[in-house]
Amino acid sequence: MLINPKSVILENSYTKDYEKLYKDSIENPETFWGNIARELLWFKPWNKVLDWQYPYARWFVGGQTNIVYNALDRWLKTDVADKTALIWVSQDGTDEKYTYKQLNEEVCKFANGLKSLGVRKGDKITIYLPRIPEQLIAMLACLKIGAVHSVVYSGFSAEALKNRIEDAQAKVVVCSNAYPYGKKTVESLKNVQQALKDNKTFENVIVVERIKQTLDVGSLKIDKEVGDLKLENQPSSFQPQNPASNFQRQTSKYIWWHELVNKQDTICSTEIMEATDTAFILYTSGTTGKPKGIIHAHGGYQVGIYYTLKTVFDIQPDDIFWSTADAGWITGHSYILYAPLINGITTFVYEGTPDYPDIEIWWKLIEKYKITKFYTAPTAIRALMKFGEEPVKKHNLYSLKILGSVGEPINPEAWLWYFRNVGREQIPIMDTWWQTETGMFMITPVPSVGLKPGSAFKPFFGIEADVVDDKGNKVPLNKQGYLIIKKPWPAMFLDVYNNPERYKETYFEKISNVYFTGDSAKIDEDGYYWIMGRNDDVIKVSGHRLGSAELESAFVSNPKVAEAAVIGKPHEVKGESIKAFVILKHGVVPSEELKKELVLQVRMQIGPIATPDEIEFVEKLPKTRSGKIMRRVLKAQELGQPVGDVSTLED
Ligand code: WTA
Repeated sequence: MLINPKSVILENSYTKDYEKLYKDSIENPETFWGNIARELLWFKPWNKVLDWQYPYARWFVGGQTNIVYNALDRWLKTDVADKTALIWVSQDGTDEKYTYKQLNEEVCKFANGLKSLGVRKGDKITIYLPRIPEQLIAMLACLKIGAVHSVVYSGFSAEALKNRIEDAQAKVVVCSNAYPYGKKTVESLKNVQQALKDNKTFENVIVVERIKQTLDVGSLKIDKEVGDLKLENQPSSFQPQNPASNFQRQTSKYIWWHELVNKQDTICSTEIMEATDTAFILYTSGTTGKPKGIIHAHGGYQVGIYYTLKTVFDIQPDDIFWSTADAGWITGHSYILYAPLINGITTFVYEGTPDYPDIEIWWKLIEKYKITKFYTAPTAIRALMKFGEEPVKKHNLYSLKILGSVGEPINPEAWLWYFRNVGREQIPIMDTWWQTETGMFMITPVPSVGLKPGSAFKPFFGIEADVVDDKGNKVPLNKQGYLIIKKPWPAMFLDVYNNPERYKETYFEKISNVYFTGDSAKIDEDGYYWIMGRNDDVIKVSGHRLGSAELESAFVSNPKVAEAAVIGKPHEVKGESIKAFVILKHGVVPSEELKKELVLQVRMQIGPIATPDEIEFVEKLPKTRSGKIMRRVLKAQELGQPVGDVSTLED
């Protein structure tokens, strides 16, 4: 089925001639990307567009810039300064709007606040904030002064946070005291305190007071050892001391955000960064138990995200762009925050979940705020589909001009529902395939091309991809193989933080000379790509990226567990669900109670997003002779599929 939505703007789109534009872009990618980079501001132009020394690519070498220079500074002397940069709607429906000028002032104040605490270029800052304006302000402020942010999704547990803070050796942690999540309140400061218990290197924790009551009622017990908060003298409120004083700096590591920024100047100069300097680290799950820190640079990253958003979502000056992701994930970094601001448009953030206060909230917000471009995940579409068409149809969604999808394959049924009910059969869906590592859209439609529901179309301009076998040979049409990228792209990650070996092994040695994505795909007779899902031990639960090994180590940390193997199973709404096979230690009696205990254990170690759906106690696990668990065999058995080659199986 080929769908050609007819809409006026798309008829005018310059991407109409995709084939020719694509051909030109890959014949000379350096000229292509160089021309785009010139649309942005640089303190100093580059000498070389691309320095490709396999497996490391460095873009715009010799160039100097800063993402914030393009996201904020460049607009301040233009009409855009008074345009809304950010609309934030809280869970209870109140909103806050920041013009570019106002946002810049908030960023400067926080940046100056960080500086007053001694934060310098290159320092690592962990941001553990929910979806509130401070999350975005903190990110921008870090980059502005050349500090490196590591944003940790607020739904991660204390243990997961601890690992990420320690790996990055973060000097400062930014968090909220607590925050509303549907009907619940998440006490995130508690997690931070637990995560920092044995941490000797952090210097400060900056706390946003998202909820007033929590600390006043004394429900949070501040750990004195960690915080030096002297709560016994101030039982009814949390009063960190003045950060400006040197003496007190030593005694109080915990500081309120509002007290820190109140005294600060609204002007702060933007640090001049090399294009290849690190902008941020973002931890993501892979095949081992330890998440890896993906590093992105200032120069290439900003060029890649700027141009992909502009092209794929046909960005117009009056756009209000809503990505329903969280800035704790790459989608939020690239397309909630940086790319919309670099494009000078309005980005929209809703604090709540898609079903709070009710399942119509998204459609209400689109109608009320006249959202023009809407970008979400298949799992959310499938969840909302369950409630039928009525809740959507009640709302006027005519402001919408383009829809997007990301995070996992979108099944044709969900695609069509989205297209018919949200897109009124007129506006196209951009199914964008990409990864934390790629930083930007890689395989995606552009407006005006014919769409096939469930296919992510073809590689974006400047991107050379293919589907190959394990030797790197192209597989026949419509046959499944490994999705690879053949040439570097500007938003390509720089490395894995503190682990170059892992960078090489995971991405560049499986098949020589190409980037190994970890996804499987097919290419059809029209050249359309169909992404089939991961071919490694990464599980995508509701679009969240989790690793089998990471989950297994959470199980094994329970003293009753001897071994565990975790697989992803297809799930109607979540895309994949988590199933664990657990071998108990000798003498431990299996029970439903124990299953509950283990579920809780995983939630505590990773977070509620990693809640296992099924646990099965087993006596044995299929292993290779060298002792590696063959998850592939477990999965095939579970799904009633052929187990494939088992010649390496021990028993
Ligand atoms: C999957 C999210 C199919 C894929 C931006 C990839 C997709 C992983 C799509 C990266 C899509 C993302 N169609 N699968 N449109 N987009 N994926 O790092 O398996 O959280 O490798 O980045 O999500 O997940 P990550």
